[in-house]
Amino acid sequence: MNSLTELVQPIAVGVYRARRERVLAALRAQGGGVAILPTAPEVMRNRDTDYPFRHDSYFYYLTGFNEPEAVLVLDADAQDGEPASILFCREKNAERETWEGFRFGPEGALDAFGLDAALPVAALDDEMPRLIADSPALHYALGTSAELDAQVRGWLAAVRAQGRSGVRAPATVHHLLPLLDEMRLVKDEHEIGIMRRAASISAEAHRRAMQACRPGMREFEIEAELLYTFRRHGAQAPAYGSIVAAGANACVLHYPAGNAIAREGDLILIDAACELDGYASDITRTFPAGGRFTPAQRELYDIVLAAQAAAVEATRPGVSFDAPHQAALKVLSQGLLDTGILDKTKVGTLDDVLAQRAYAPFYMHRTGHWIGMDVHDAGEYREAGGPLDEQGARPWRTLLPGMALTIEPGLYVRASADVPERYWDIGIRIEDDAILTDTGCELITREVPVAADEIEALMRAS
Ligand code: GLY
Ligand code: MN
Ligand code: MN
Repeated sequence: MNSLTELVQPIAVGVYRARRERVLAALRAQGGGVAILPTAPEVMRNRDTDYPFRHDSYFYYLTGFNEPEAVLVLDADAQDGEPASILFCREKNAERETWEGFRFGPEGALDAFGLDAALPVAALDDEMPRLIADSPALHYALGTSAELDAQVRGWLAAVRAQGRSGVRAPATVHHLLPLLDEMRLVKDEHEIGIMRRAASISAEAHRRAMQACRPGMREFEIEAELLYTFRRHGAQAPAYGSIVAAGANACVLHYPAGNAIAREGDLILIDAACELDGYASDITRTFPAGGRFTPAQRELYDIVLAAQAAAVEATRPGVSFDAPHQAALKVLSQGLLDTGILDKTKVGTLDDVLAQRAYAPFYMHRTGHWIGMDVHDAGEYREAGGPLDEQGARPWRTLLPGMALTIEPGLYVRASADVPERYWDIGIRIEDDAILTDTGCELITREVPVAADEIEALMRAS
């Protein structure tokens, strides 16, 4: 039997401490101040049942602490010997721990998380006015939480009430998140290690689902194979609602796994992946329910796969975030012309299709997004400055080593008199997770096959 302490995972204390030091240094460079970063609130589901608690990603990025009711305070004005990293957390409580499990308590958290000080969260309203008094600025997630806004107002009011004793309230407030967004955008080795493990688990789940799939199964039965694999390997949860779509359902982009039957001749689109230790993965594969693509499915599948290959090739440091999308659009659009899904006599040449966005009825989403702690991860997609384009938008960001993004082209052809019938109701997406290297990118989700022949071979082997 496990002892309670065995259930506590080792914590990469140095990683979190180094991130806090980076934030403190950045705040000092801005003239100092106090940063305040609460974790996520607990949310009631009904009566005395809560939704599963999931920490706030920014808070976890700087602490590794995943208990609810916790606040990190970083005091960039702290003098030598004064605490700069302070955690407010729940106190130990024998009765509550009997019901809900282990709590570190401030004393336990202090060393376990490499903090300078840890205090009971119940003392927050008493301590904060003292911590922010005479500080030049506050840094917090502006306008993201009515509760935090109200707390800050209360602490400011408490400092101002002591005005006659000579203390001053901070005169400036900065939005804290852009600084953290920039840090989170480039992943460190610790993060990449966890992301690789999450990707492996998710890839195994996809392999298992492909091998389990038989005509006649319902979507939720296939989903069960995924969820089983996630948990079996210790992933805490799916990183997002699992999409398991049979046949025409694959043309609904965010279709949740339902109870439709996978029939012989259908394609199954699975977009599902786990969250492990605070990090998401995101994989889509599309495969034939009966183990063999029809000729029409195979044609479209190979177009999407070629579009993905072109996007992967375009994913390298120094190019624009938009480059993989543009590369995929070219291949997809050419494929739409070659198959006659787009009628050349109506839409013109490849350049016309791209300029007029004539592909949009069949490809309506972008080719990727940042991925990390959140499946659609933090980080700006556009540069902070630079010339505006025709749509009035700032330039796309330039890709850098250590960034992580998905590469996920697709084609979705609904039944319509305007397109050849052989392609009706085919929805295909292929999605992998890429880490930018010094020269290109590495796909960390390729432990599940992606070539049509390899998918068919895996399904035959089951
Ligand atoms: N699974 C969500 C996405 O692909 O963006
Ligand atoms: Mn995605
Ligand atoms: Mn996805």
